[in-house]
Amino acid sequence: MDKLLITGPSQLHGSVRISGAKNAVLPILAATLLCEQPTTINRVPHLRDVTTTMELLGSMGVNLTLGDDNSIELDASNVTSYEAPYELVKTMRASILVLGPLLARFGQAKVSLPGGCAIGSRPVDLHINGMRALGASISVEKGFINASVPNGLKAADITLETITVTGTENLLMAAVLAKGTSVIRNAAREPEVTDLANFLVSVGAKISGIGTHTLEVEGVDSLSGTEYTVLSDRIEAGTYLVAAAASCGAVTLKDVCLDSLNGVLDKLRETGAHITTEGDTVTLDMKGERPNAVDISTAPYPGFPTDMQAQFVAMNAVANGTAVVTENVFENRFMHVQELQRMGADIRLQGNTVIIKGVKNLTGAPVMATDLRASASLVIAGIIAHGETLVDRIYHIDRGYACIEEKMTQLGANIKRVS
Ligand code: EPZ
Repeated sequence: MDKLLITGPSQLHGSVRISGAKNAVLPILAATLLCEQPTTINRVPHLRDVTTTMELLGSMGVNLTLGDDNSIELDASNVTSYEAPYELVKTMRASILVLGPLLARFGQAKVSLPGGCAIGSRPVDLHINGMRALGASISVEKGFINASVPNGLKAADITLETITVTGTENLLMAAVLAKGTSVIRNAAREPEVTDLANFLVSVGAKISGIGTHTLEVEGVDSLSGTEYTVLSDRIEAGTYLVAAAASCGAVTLKDVCLDSLNGVLDKLRETGAHITTEGDTVTLDMKGERPNAVDISTAPYPGFPTDMQAQFVAMNAVANGTAVVTENVFENRFMHVQELQRMGADIRLQGNTVIIKGVKNLTGAPVMATDLRASASLVIAGIIAHGETLVDRIYHIDRGYACIEEKMTQLGANIKRVS
């Protein structure tokens, strides 16, 4: 099993190009199941989760043609299977995103129930209840969600009791072909949800309230094809900025979407980082200074992103002062803490909060990745720690970061993949 061997400390300097957003491309690829004509998706990141999604769509009969410039052409005019098998769903929870499109276009779907996950139980009850509200009959047995709506989905007024990103996306994809006008209230407003909505509008969907907590969808008979470029990945960008801040360095990121980064940039300015922006480029410069500790409290967008929590914990571990970090979205998203403690971090866990006292430096150690963003925090810690850090189970990181060791090496890190 691959591991990442990191020798620190390094101060990061230089520039990297940010890839397309994992959490935007996954729902958009699923949404191509709705389209009668071929679609071309540009700026597709080279990630394991994208490969898994392509495998899943291919197994259903979608015709995929890979371009040599991170683009994919997808043709769903001849879908033959409506099933998302366990073998694929167990490796990627986001496979649940085919449920809405399959029901909307084909009136049936059989999707393996996503299991729990390292960061929490992550039920899909809101997805299922929403589909039932749109007229689908759904049974959950033997680990599968069996859904059917032979006479087609019918519009509904749905209020989500919890803000759910993929729940909003699934229901949005179902509603675009439902008869009548649906309303989705307490909808997620993440930029990736907005990107999906913009993709759907580009193939003929009628959606208003995009970017707000209330989406109104007027169902149409069919959706056409399009060429669409995926949003830039705000979490990948935030990860490199935090790595630079933790290492007291200076980096420039290209191809970013600044609007989606505001909360993270404001928090980084609090650390004392000097941040300049121009068009789709952002530069962070610590002027060689150690970051100041910053408090974090995660929340649905436009609040502070839970997907950036682990990275900031790693940075706070070597910051000036003490930080309080509270995780409000997932019930178990601090597994990186015990690994960072092995590296000498002074962190106390109290329920859904950690208190982090910045130490002078971390010390390299063998550590284990437990989930995608925890892996990123361990890579950041390895880059700034004194000595060697061996990060195990890095299949987690390959799910969400394209070419992380190449990009970090470009910035001056001493990092290589070893078996
Ligand atoms: C999406 O997951 C992202 N994944 C996650 O990114 C991200 O952390 C999360 O949104 C929150 O922003 C993708 O977009 C593929 P949720 P999702 O439904 O949709 C509860 C990463 O690192 N809930 O918004 O699964 C749930 O338990 C990944 O890139 C229900 O109770 O998250 C959680 O506490 C990790 N019932 C809260 O809502 C449901 O039916 C928010 O979860 C659905 C969710």
